[in-house]
Formats: sequence, structure tokens, C-alpha cells
Amino acid sequence: MKLFSSVNDVADLKSFIEQALNLKADPFAHQSLGKNKTLGLVFLNPSLRTRLSSQKAAMNLGMNVMVMNLDKEGWALETEDGVVMNGTSVEHIREAAAVMGQYCDILGFRFFPKLLSREEDYSEALFNKFVKYSGVPVISLESATLHPLQSFADLITIEEYKKVKKPKVVLTWAPHVKSLPQAVPNSFSEWMCRAQEEGMIDFVITHPEGLELADKFTPGAKIEYKQDMALKGADFVYVKNWSSYHDYGKTFQNGESWMMTHQKLEQSNEAKVMHCLPVRRDFELSAEVLDGPHSLVIHEAANRVWSAQTVLKNMLEGLL
Ligand code: CP
Repeated sequence: MKLFSSVNDVADLKSFIEQALNLKADPFAHQSLGKNKTLGLVFLNPSLRTRLSSQKAAMNLGMNVMVMNLDKEGWALETEDGVVMNGTSVEHIREAAAVMGQYCDILGFRFFPKLLSREEDYSEALFNKFVKYSGVPVISLESATLHPLQSFADLITIEEYKKVKKPKVVLTWAPHVKSLPQAVPNSFSEWMCRAQEEGMIDFVITHPEGLELADKFTPGAKIEYKQDMALKGADFVYVKNWSSYHDYGKTFQNGESWMMTHQKLEQSNEAKVMHCLPVRRDFELSAEVLDGPHSLVIHEAANRVWSAQTVLKNMLEGLL
């Protein structure tokens, strides 16, 4: 494996989940695989879970880890080609990425979208340039449009907690105080659509009209605009805000009634509730649900280690 940026980079989904569960059962089984290998984690945006779980996963495999907050600690980066660098940019992405590739055997990058231009964000130009110029295997730590390590951890969590062979999984929009990227819901949908294709789940997305995700990330998903209808019989409810894809970056006004509550879950099949975190308590999701027995949010975060460790293990095996 040389690139992990989407579910499309995974050849065998069921085997990938099985590998993750094996690593969870025996975290240090491959300690020699990462000996004398270095993982570089490069962040242009904040992170708690992605940063720590990726570091822990690498340490479990015997790797060394270096972390750089490029936005605060790096030189001001020029990302466009053909620019005369007589302004504030100090270093071009071509040299910066190539140099990181000299120090690291595997690199991870996190770059959030600006939410100003859909064309620019959805081209994934920045992430793709780092992939191209670094010359080493690259993991997405959340790009402009996708967050695959999170979605893989979510699928591992569903596999662990499902009580029926083919659970109903519902992705529901939730209110938020600001415009958020579509990366987490795009990615969750992409992974769930693949799981549905492979007969593992039934997948429904519910959101206010106008907040449809990009078609390419929702193939086969059932769209239900009525949240109460979508929640009927749900086994897993994934709560997440996102801004508009079609009216790009705009947030939905007056969406408070979409907050997930204990009362709404009464029509589900005692659904387990998921959220990638960080979460706004009593705004996206009620504290009662978060602190109650149906919440899986901490388990999901814990499973981030095994999603990262599975990806790193496959990349390290490709370096042998
Ligand atoms: N869910 C997630 O990616 O968390 P962080 O942004 O804290 O890494």
C-alpha cells in the first residue's frame, strides 16, 4: 500500500477489518516491522485523536515518529507552480515535501479545506502535491474532502458492536455553530456505501433538503429527508454536521431541531450512537445521549489506533 486517502485504496475491505481486529487483540505482534523506520505527521490544522492515535499506532509497530505543525512551525509555503516568489511565501511545496520524504519512510498530512471554492477544495490539489513531491507512501490524516482513518475506525466499531448480521446504519446531519467541511460525512458515506455493496450493512442518510453530499460519495445510499423516518429501526446512528456542498460552504440556518436526543432514539432499534469527536454537547448531540449507555464515541476514538495501525502495517510491508 503506497497511498491511503479513500476507501478505494483498500482492495479487500473485510480483510482490512479483520487485520484491525487482530491488531487490537495483539497490538505488539509486529513490533519488528517498524524498526528503524520513521513516520512523519504533518498538520496544518488542529488535532487530538488523529495525532495521538497515529503516534500510538506507529509506536506499537516499533516505528519512530516525528510531528510537525506546519502552520505554526514551518516556513510560509508556496503551493502554486510558476509563481515568482517575491512575496511572503518562503518555501515551495516542491522542496518542502521532497525534503520531508528524505527524512521519513511514511508521511501523513492533514489539510482542511478553506470552504471558499468547491473546485479548489474538491481538486485536493494541496494533498495531491504532497503525495507527488514527497516520493514516499502517504496517509491522509484528513484532507479537504475525506477522512479515511476516521471512517475505517467507524466501520471497525460497527463490526464490533453489531447485534444483527446486516445492521441499519443512519448518517444524520446535526446543527453546529459554524460551517464545517464535508470531509467526515463524505468519507463515512463512501465507506458505508462500500460496506453496503459488500452486503455488510443497509445505509441511509438523513439531512435537511439542500444539504445533499456529492453524488460520487453516496452511491447506493438511501436519502431520507425526514429524520424521524430515517431513525426507525436504526441499529447505528452517526451524528455529524456539515456545510452545504451545492451552495458551497454555507451552513443551514435554524437547524436546532436536528439535534440528536434520547427521545428521538426511541424509534430506533436501541441504536448505538456515533460521532467522530470533537462534539458540541447539547447542540449536536444531547449530553444525556453522550453520557448514556448507547454512546460509542469513546470506542470509536479508541479504534482510531487500530485503523491507523492497519494502514501503517500494510505500508511497512510494502517497504520490505
Ligand atoms: N475525529 C478526529 O479526527 O479528531 P481530531 O480532529 O481531534 O484528530
